Amino acid sequence: MQNRIYVTREIPEIGINMLKEKGYEVVVGNDKKPISQKDIIDILKKAEKIGKPYNILLSLLTDKIDKKVFEIAPSLKMVSNYAIGYDNVNIEDAKEYGVMVTNTPGDYMGSVAEHVVAMTLSLCNRIAEADHFVRRGYYKGFDPMLMIGHDVSEKTIGIIGAGRIGEKTTYCFNKGFGCPILYYDCHRNEKIENDCNAKRMESLNDLIKQSDIISLHVPLNEKTYHMVDEEFISKMKPDAFIINTARGAVVDEKYLYHALKEKKIAGAGLDVFEFEPNITRGLSKLGNVIMTPHIASASIKARDIMSKVAAQNIIDYMEGGESKNNCVK
Ligand code: GLV
Repeated sequence: MQNRIYVTREIPEIGINMLKEKGYEVVVGNDKKPISQKDIIDILKKAEKIGKPYNILLSLLTDKIDKKVFEIAPSLKMVSNYAIGYDNVNIEDAKEYGVMVTNTPGDYMGSVAEHVVAMTLSLCNRIAEADHFVRRGYYKGFDPMLMIGHDVSEKTIGIIGAGRIGEKTTYCFNKGFGCPILYYDCHRNEKIENDCNAKRMESLNDLIKQSDIISLHVPLNEKTYHMVDEEFISKMKPDAFIINTARGAVVDEKYLYHALKEKKIAGAGLDVFEFEPNITRGLSKLGNVIMTPHIASASIKARDIMSKVAAQNIIDYMEGGESKNNCVK
């Protein structure tokens, strides 16, 4: 049987071409917004019915893939998720239905790390706020007391999750600004300890209490859901910032809104949202938060690599029975 792949939305062509060159039949959905689970089910069901089933799904982080999808698509053998995070795919269900799931880690984490730095600089140097100020015509001349901010180089950075992205972020802050680094992770990262003098914290509470900028780099799962809640925020320094480029629901967004409004902490940089694409009411009215639309990995290089890795995962698994980015253990 010819391998047939349904790609739920447009992704960079490079990976699509790799699959086509291998003779795979690739169909790319043309929706401009995230596709619903019902639509995914309808597409797969119809293909099964007409005898041209898809055996591979190339999904995005917005696609909810679980039992409901697997049970109507008996031909489906693989879900190649175009993302590092794969909390959108129910791995237990995939296991039950014998479907392989892969993700796209790779050598492009610099993009996310740079986004963390950009958000930090924007918050500390009040860039977004200052830009609004000038555009709205409020600038009436130099004022030595205007928009005084913070030096990033004076800050202690707390990295929660020292995997590849946390590691890159550590290098950016330590090598670029000389910032001391604290990190919290169940695994030791000797590379950042040796190269950046990063200090592994035994206690998350100690990291929270001692950090000026906290950057989240954990996957979303039952342990990390609402990790940043009222208790977490109550331990942060009142002049500390938090940056989230991981997954929205790692933060209790409604409480974060309250904390920012009440100035319990200095500010937040959010690239991801708990109720994505919806934003907690009131958040966008606050001056101490900057927000970007889940684009931390959206550099040309990163997106191309993700496309290549997603395609290579398919080729490796379909042709060799194995992929190095296997999420079903
Ligand atoms: C983006 O959020 C990703 O997980 O790749």
